[in-house]
Amino acid sequence: MDIRMIHFQSHDDDRGCLVVAETMKEIPFDIKRLYYIYDVGKDKERGFHSHKRLEQVYIGIHGSMKVTLFDGKERKEVILDNPKQGLYIGHDVWRTITDFSPDAVLLVAASEHYSEDDYIRNYDEFVASLNK
Ligand code: TYD
Repeated sequence: MDIRMIHFQSHDDDRGCLVVAETMKEIPFDIKRLYYIYDVGKDKERGFHSHKRLEQVYIGIHGSMKVTLFDGKERKEVILDNPKQGLYIGHDVWRTITDFSPDAVLLVAASEHYSEDDYIRNYDEFVASLNK
């Protein structure tokens, strides 16, 4: 499955922590877009889609959340609760995001501008697309 955890450089001292993620170093693509998700209510779920070309890095900036991933062969669950790590997700991976803590903030770095055409939002269509 085309996912991996990325460990960011962190400069920590008695003033706090400064975490760095540079394009083409820790982030393996040119970042064209950032977005973030927060204030997710109890038991609410996000995602339920894959992307045809888009690559992303999910960073659990605050609080925690669970990302469930499926590439047609294997299923993985990743808890994001460390702002010094990012979860790289390649294209053609179905993802759902659940179990947001009340204080959760999920920051996402994306390799492309927003395009609804890049989404597959129907699970059967996703599975069919893997066999093409
Ligand atoms: P969506 O990607 O479906 O969010 P999630 O999978 O987390 O539930 O996006 C929710 C809405 O926001 C949808 O109407 C598309 C819009 N949107 C943008 O306009 N630009 C963006 O960069 C993103 C990520 C979403």
